[in-house]
Amino acid sequence: MLKYLAIFLAALLAAALLGLFAITWIESRQARQLAGKQPYVSPPTASRAAVVYFSRSGNTALAARHVARRLKAQLFTLEAPDYQLGTGGLAHALKDANALKEKPESLPGIIPRTIDLTPFDTVWLGSPVWLYSPAPPIWAFVEHNRFDGLHVVLFNTFNSHFGDEHIAALKTKVMAHGAKSFEHRYVLRGRMTRQLTPEQMLLAIDDEWFGPQAHP
Ligand SMILES: Cc1cc2nc3c(=O)[nH]c(=O)nc-3n(C[C@H](O)[C@H](O)[C@H](O)COP(=O)(O)O)c2cc1C
Repeated sequence: MLKYLAIFLAALLAAALLGLFAITWIESRQARQLAGKQPYVSPPTASRAAVVYFSRSGNTALAARHVARRLKAQLFTLEAPDYQLGTGGLAHALKDANALKEKPESLPGIIPRTIDLTPFDTVWLGSPVWLYSPAPPIWAFVEHNRFDGLHVVLFNTFNSHFGDEHIAALKTKVMAHGAKSFEHRYVLRGRMTRQLTPEQMLLAIDDEWFGPQAHP
């Protein structure tokens, strides 16, 4: 009996590891394909909009570059060394996204930790969804920064579901850090075997965030 239990547990572990490796392989391939798409350099005289984003596998980064180009905005990337591509980073991401639900104060290191947002009147904050909530780095950014008098637009890329309660909690935190108003935009990419192409994602962003006439 014990022997069968051990075989069952080993098979379960092997399946979980195989799943982690498969996801990592897909994420790394996506990140490579997306990295060169729509490069963007912030203009010297940017508008009064800023786009600040965290992205692990490149999809939110592409969305952020697209939004920044539309708004002629200053673009800021948040790095989170704990969550680099690979199985270690993925395991860490899952662990921390889960821990955040119980302990909202357990936040990861981000680079940069603070950004002077006083030159702007609108700040777009971009993040993937992890375990139904915006990923821990964007929570860390909100924790360490002020948004006095700003209109804040949270935008998410995700595969299938997010939880409204997590968006509401992040809104409360943003407002407590001085924001004047808050909006949420999102783009559903679909599950891993049948996802939008990057081009389809950008068209969905144009239609759903900027209106159907918005194709540049
Ligand atoms: C650790 C982890 C947890 C995730 N959890 C969810 C989730 O709860 N719901 C969902 O729809 N997608 C989830 N995803 C998928 C990502 O939100 C989606 O692929 C996103 O577009 C990735 O953005 P990025 O390429 O900018 O990192 C998760 C991805 C990771 C790595």
